[in-house]
Amino acid sequence: MVQRSKSSPAWMHEHVNDPYVQRAQKDGYRARAAYKLLEINEKDKLIKQGTVLADLGSAPGSWSQVAAKLVGKNGKVFALDILPMDAIEGVDFIQGDFREDDVLAQLENLLQNRPLDLVICDMAPNMSGNDTIDQARSYYLCELALDFAQNHLKTGGSFLVKVFQGSGYQEYLTAMRQIFATVQTRKPDASRNRSSEIYLLGKNKR
Ligand SMILES: C[S@@+](CC[C@H](N)C(=O)[O-])C[C@H]1O[C@@H](n2cnc3c(N)ncnc32)[C@H](O)[C@@H]1O
Repeated sequence: MVQRSKSSPAWMHEHVNDPYVQRAQKDGYRARAAYKLLEINEKDKLIKQGTVLADLGSAPGSWSQVAAKLVGKNGKVFALDILPMDAIEGVDFIQGDFREDDVLAQLENLLQNRPLDLVICDMAPNMSGNDTIDQARSYYLCELALDFAQNHLKTGGSFLVKVFQGSGYQEYLTAMRQIFATVQTRKPDASRNRSSEIYLLGKNKR
């Protein structure tokens, strides 16, 4: 298969003709990824009025836009990304590398020991093109996110995380099953079929 980098003509052609890209522009979402979260939420009802959640790897911000709308005034969204993100009402944002201890400390400081109902993680490293390296980098971020979820979710809380199927997948699934009573997979329609990405949803933190 042709490798589609985000500057290739093939990628650009697919992108501008993608119905989710067009819908996102119409609905005012910053990325087509909004529809992945909306579809999962439609099924699993993870985000409701009053939900307090963390959005890891939040930029450009479409998941935070969706979440902020759904949690309403009594809920809260804490978001973090290594890249800058334009402000969204109801979202407290930290810019920093989640792999760094001081960035984690900043996020924890913002939470002020508020237990979370939900952690959503769409983090993905910049792809180098070397599958082994990319897969390892990606699972490292997912492991840090799982650790964060384990430490900050309330009992009964949920964790939604993007992973890439392949090396490391089974081990990660096993780790999630130790923390959550149920772990399910979700592949929303907006997630491109040719992508090995899949979402794991851990419910009912032990
Ligand atoms: C697919 S995008 C997230 C899209 C987002 N869910 C949305 O709806 O707009 C993945 C994000 O992970 C972020 N990311 C990658 N490595 C990171 C790291 N070490 N720390 C924090 N964020 C990271 C990237 O900067 C990127 O914005």
